[in-house]
Amino acid sequence: PRLQSKDLEGVAAYIASGRCKNIVIMAGAGISRAAGIPDFRSQGGLYDVLRKWNIDVRRPEDIFTLSRFKEDPKPFYKLMSQLYGGSYRPTLTHSFFRLLDKRRVLNACWTQNVDNLECLAGLPARRLIEAHGTLDSQHCTSCGAKCDDRKMKHAVVTGDIPVCEKKGCGGFVKPDVVMFGESLPLKFWLNLPFLKRADLLIIVGTSLAVPPFSFIANWVPTSCPRVVINMEPVWGVGGRANDVEVLGDCDETVRRLAQLIGADWEAQLDALWKE
Ligand code: OAD
Repeated sequence: PRLQSKDLEGVAAYIASGRCKNIVIMAGAGISRAAGIPDFRSQGGLYDVLRKWNIDVRRPEDIFTLSRFKEDPKPFYKLMSQLYGGSYRPTLTHSFFRLLDKRRVLNACWTQNVDNLECLAGLPARRLIEAHGTLDSQHCTSCGAKCDDRKMKHAVVTGDIPVCEKKGCGGFVKPDVVMFGESLPLKFWLNLPFLKRADLLIIVGTSLAVPPFSFIANWVPTSCPRVVINMEPVWGVGGRANDVEVLGDCDETVRRLAQLIGADWEAQLDALWKE
């Protein structure tokens, strides 16, 4: 077995040993909560907010379907106005990803988040797979034209529906996030073969409820230890010999992990976070 013990100490010893060189991260909305961005499925999360609005949908997820968006984008934008309005700072967990890259042990960070905080934390684009797209750019759903960032932000925060300004178009503008019913970006599919190189998988801040992203956890080799760092257990991980579960707040856990790997890791983590 690669881990001396099935706990955070075992994971830290494995990373410190130098034998672990291709860490793969799977991240979700939980890592951005400390930045002030709500997640989806926790109490007080976006789906809770949607339930309270009493809009006519079967499930709150329906707001994120392309067909529903094209019919009526208002609820989607009302919800998104929270994300467009704020200016958010990466969390310690985001900086931990950067630290892994600086230490040359990060293979890739696969994220479901669209808040761009991995980039803001300084993670290079070649290490980042934004599987559910990004809020950072947008296109018209009718003619496909790229639309202006400032105008988009202005429309969303003032409660307007952003529409395409191309002559005679007027289609709804949609951020380049992946909605249910859309395919994932090409970068997601092209990077799947590299999962075979993974020698440690860190699953952090995600309920792992949404395929095909959730499938990644099963596409790393069976010999690859998988560590869940999350508030609650995640479905589908835990049955392999090298699975580890560390329940609790992710910022606290990555700090402890850095400490356990070595004092210089924790110092560097703090330095990166303060940058
Ligand atoms: P979820 O809201 O489903 O899951 C977030 C997870 O993070 C939960 O299991 C929380 O317990 C955990 N969590 C919250 N705060 C935490 C903290 N401080 N430390 C550790 N864990 C914490 O969000 P995702 O898994 O990202 O897709 O959701 C996946 C996808 O579902 C989203 O990308 C979105 C959504 O529908 C689309 O809309 C296509």
